[in-house]
Amino acid sequence: VSPAISSAVERLMRRVEDFPSSGVQFCDLTPVLADPEGFDAVVRGLAAGHEVGSIDYVAGLDARGFLLAGAVAVRLHTGVLAIRKAGKLPPPVHSRSYELEYGAATLELPADGLDLSGKRVLVVDDVLATGGTLSAAVGLLDDCGAIVAGLSVVLEVPGLGGRDRLADTSLTCLTVA
Ligand code: PRP
Ligand code: MG
Repeated sequence: VSPAISSAVERLMRRVEDFPSSGVQFCDLTPVLADPEGFDAVVRGLAAGHEVGSIDYVAGLDARGFLLAGAVAVRLHTGVLAIRKAGKLPPPVHSRSYELEYGAATLELPADGLDLSGKRVLVVDDVLATGGTLSAAVGLLDDCGAIVAGLSVVLEVPGLGGRDRLADTSLTCLTVA
């Protein structure tokens, strides 16, 4: 990723001390995506390293990944996939559950009407923290027979093991919290 893209994200990102708890700094990407140059930089950065024709689908993760996936898909001339949280899609579905700090969540894709076998998918999301969400998405795409061609996120929160958990897949992060 070019330094200009990372610096555009860092310049516009809002850092909030002591949220959601004391001693933690929260990075809010809202002003980055709300800015025309910021959003353009994000979309270019998430697509970086992937040529038109090398990817079949861009997949976005419910919910904030949806903001990004459509724009990246247009840039790479692909279709877009919405990887949904549980309970939104009619059966039959493929599903993968993952752990949260308190409880669990599930991601789903349709098991009918969409043949992903052998298709190359770029997965995009806003934030990588523990990696639970992205690794569930990788597992889900694997269950569908797809090939995960890359993972691209705007912001990596270091120190939570996310990068290690995704070590088998090529990962692009535009900036670090
Ligand atoms: C947030 C964020 C990432 C995920 C990262 O999503 O948008 O998808 O957490 O955390 P992880 O690496 O520890 O899995 P969340 O499901 O909280 O909310 P959203 O529906 O607003 O995207
Ligand atoms: Mg999310």
